[in-house]
Amino acid sequence: MRIDIITVLPELLKSPFEASILKRAIDAGLVSVHFHNLRDYSSDNYKSIDDTQFGGGAGMVMMIEPIDKCISQLKSERDYDEVIYMTPDGETLNQGIANQLSMKGNIIILCGHYKGVDQRVRDHFITKEISIGDYVLSGGELGAAVLCDSIIRLIPGVLGNETSALTDSFQDGLLAPPIYTKPRDYKGWKVPELLVNGNFPKIEKWREEQALERTKRRRPDLLED
Ligand code: ADE
Repeated sequence: MRIDIITVLPELLKSPFEASILKRAIDAGLVSVHFHNLRDYSSDNYKSIDDTQFGGGAGMVMMIEPIDKCISQLKSERDYDEVIYMTPDGETLNQGIANQLSMKGNIIILCGHYKGVDQRVRDHFITKEISIGDYVLSGGELGAAVLCDSIIRLIPGVLGNETSALTDSFQDGLLAPPIYTKPRDYKGWKVPELLVNGNFPKIEKWREEQALERTKRRRPDLLED
């Protein structure tokens, strides 16, 4: 998989890809991530990428031309499955979207800034708009990092068996059950007896019940229809 990220702040985005599971996935050649500084596609001497709104109003708008140049350059080099725009008014990211995107070959992610991009960018270049939640960030970069993390960990081979994504919360539509490790008794706080006596069918059933119970209590919305 190849991910191209278009941003005005590449430095804000780089560190998540230089550590942990994301770095391992990149080093193993399972994914490549490329950063493109939008200012490199600006056509004036000031490297401007934004301007005031037509019709008046506070806040700057990202101009179409540098974005067109950058996306067109990338598209001339390879085909893309999705061109994603990070925006608070997009579709809210969930595990289903992450699963779908993890099966794509090449994607572009455009990070918004200021008031956002000229609507014509959204109308003519963007195939998917994603929000990471109902709050406003100062730019799309942190959202893009969250999106990439959620996608990359699902690419086959990225997680070992010990961290398999199949048992994550949301993967079966439920929250994950409680988990424990040694010691069995800490200051009198004990691990449920059932988990330490090795009856695996019983343990499996207990985990399913706990997952359902936790989901009912914390996220009843996940159980609707
Ligand atoms: N840019 C600003 N806020 C955002 C959000 N909540 N999700 C994605 N991109 C954003």
